[in-house]
Amino acid sequence: MKKTETGIFVLFILQILCLGTAHSADSPSATFKEELSKQEEIFRSKEGRVPEGYTIDRTLEDYAQTLSSDFDSALANLGPKDRWLDIGAGKGNAILDYYTPDYDLNHLQGHARRGEKAKAVAISVEDRRTPLWHQTAASLVPSQIQYFFEKRVRDYSLGELGRFQVITDLLGGFSYTDELSVFLEKVLGFLELKGTFYTLLQDVNSQEGTNRPFYANSPYLTEISNADDSEVKVCVWLKRITCVEVSCELKAQWKPPIEVYRIHKVCDEVSVPALVRMHYQAGTPPERRYRLRN
Ligand SMILES: C[S@@+](CC[C@H](N)C(=O)[O-])C[C@H]1O[C@@H](n2cnc3c(N)ncnc32)[C@H](O)[C@@H]1O
Repeated sequence: MKKTETGIFVLFILQILCLGTAHSADSPSATFKEELSKQEEIFRSKEGRVPEGYTIDRTLEDYAQTLSSDFDSALANLGPKDRWLDIGAGKGNAILDYYTPDYDLNHLQGHARRGEKAKAVAISVEDRRTPLWHQTAASLVPSQIQYFFEKRVRDYSLGELGRFQVITDLLGGFSYTDELSVFLEKVLGFLELKGTFYTLLQDVNSQEGTNRPFYANSPYLTEISNADDSEVKVCVWLKRITCVEVSCELKAQWKPPIEVYRIHKVCDEVSVPALVRMHYQAGTPPERRYRLRN
């Protein structure tokens, strides 16, 4: 039995994980399709029947406490012409919190510059908008906040989404996608020059290598290897991306531990070392294994 995602906040054992195990090189196989369909069930779970480990309502305060320490000031310093994208936004609570008077009271820094605040876009596979989302959107100028759903990040074009100064992903697509390198290259394409992508992964072998898989007899949740099976740490893979500066920070006290990533774009020719998916097992988040292409 394996405990799941948001042991960050709640440790939970997801029954579905016990139903089957996917093994290696499961590309177009029946096993892989089965895992994708289990994952889809988690995404589509209705209000009141959402698996306990699938957290969809984190606040902006949760984001600030979890992501890299400069995320809070990066958001506070955005001006009205800037844009923030939250990938895997769930109910969109982080964006709603940004638009409250309380946010301004607690973020005097950047207040004068912010004025009417940045525009914000939420992306989710499933529509988790709440009455509060609709109410807030209606009270703001049109398109000040937008919520896109039904498609994955990889399915959006630059023309549809545009570019953003700040992109966040707190246990959203970066943790859930089956195509990690495709996902990341797409995200970095949506990032403005000098913009920053803030994200994390749970239960990975950290840059320092001081942590072990959180659950006994289980692998790390996301693993990458070379063709000869030797390990490539996620942080090392990220640092091989061109045109970005990457910092990785292990938060060992979280249960499971998380490694938070700050990915800052410094030029436009971004190229992400391609990964081939070897294993994907549905969960909150899923267990994934990749091999570096060539
Ligand atoms: C566990 S919820 C996290 C919600 C929110 N970030 C929070 O912390 O409360 C995962 C979110 O990621 C979204 N998601 C998963 N894979 C995605 C992808 N490839 N593209 C866009 N959104 C994705 C899901 O639809 C959902 O909104």
